[in-house]
Amino acid sequence: RPEIISDKDQMRRWSRAMRSQGKTIALIPTMGYLHEGHLSLVREAHKHANLTVVSIYVNPGQFSPSEDLSTYPSDFEGDIHKLMSVPGGVDAVFHPHNLYDYRVDGKNEIGKSGGDEECKNQEGGKGGVVSCVEEKGMGHETWVRVERLEKGLCGKSRPVFFRGVATIVTKLFNIVEPDVAVFGKKDYQQWRIIQRMVRDLDFSIRIVGSDVMRDNDGLAMSSRNVHLSAEAREKALSINRSLLKAQSSAQEGHKSCTMLRDCVVQAITEAGGKVDYAEIVDQESLEAVEEIKNPVVFCVAAWFGKVRLIDNIEINA
Ligand code: PAJ
Repeated sequence: RPEIISDKDQMRRWSRAMRSQGKTIALIPTMGYLHEGHLSLVREAHKHANLTVVSIYVNPGQFSPSEDLSTYPSDFEGDIHKLMSVPGGVDAVFHPHNLYDYRVDGKNEIGKSGGDEECKNQEGGKGGVVSCVEEKGMGHETWVRVERLEKGLCGKSRPVFFRGVATIVTKLFNIVEPDVAVFGKKDYQQWRIIQRMVRDLDFSIRIVGSDVMRDNDGLAMSSRNVHLSAEAREKALSINRSLLKAQSSAQEGHKSCTMLRDCVVQAITEAGGKVDYAEIVDQESLEAVEEIKNPVVFCVAAWFGKVRLIDNIEINA
């Protein structure tokens, strides 16, 4: 069984003790409800460091009050068992209760205060857009922003999301002090943002990107998939299927992005999904391209009922 640590000072002491013995540490940040996708990151981490730390923390800083923070699934004991099932296992699990300070009156606890409505006009965040951290009045006001990369793709419909991700990952880096951190390419924009942040802010941490894990039917694994009905799940397969078709058309020489995007949007819409975006972007800059000349990634977000799914496929023309 891994060491389970919930106190941040204890976490830092553990890491420093290990590093003073000459061990290297890989960190895998997660929000729990682990699946094979997360476990593949643990296997990847074993290739890069002596010890592995998995953090499990549902970060209120990356959810807006109207999003699914309160229904985000969790199963801590199940998570520990899954982590123990991986050969080599993990050495420590960091499972903090709250990584943001509460306001002094102590009234605000995650999930216990405030309705969704009352915070809509509150100040803070960007132009009135706030995360659950501001909504709950937690004592936190410093945010890390990767200004250009956070704007497109998921940043358009989730304006506080990447600010929250970059900030919590910075906090986790400062607490765990890892040598390496592993991120899934399933969340392609998140991976690129963290890479860029580490470069821009001189973190001495190597960022490793790990391939998307899929179920046998091709659906990208996600903690949110549990909320899909069998019927919605079947419809959601249109995402991966249409992306695979786009990839092979591109490889056969169809380089016009408008055409490739139209096909994907049509396939997902016909299946009953509501496309949030379907964009072909440069793999590094994440800028939209018109024609495929350099390596690109085709990124999609779509709603199936109340579940928002994302997926992507790299196209190396
Ligand atoms: P979470 O969604 O739990 O994902 C944790 C890590 O697992 C991320 O790096 C994500 O890309 C990776 N992952 C999820 N599904 C995957 C799949 N099917 N294949 C490969 N990797 C997969 O992403 C977050 O949490 C949070 O934003 C976090 C980085 C922890 C910050 O709060």
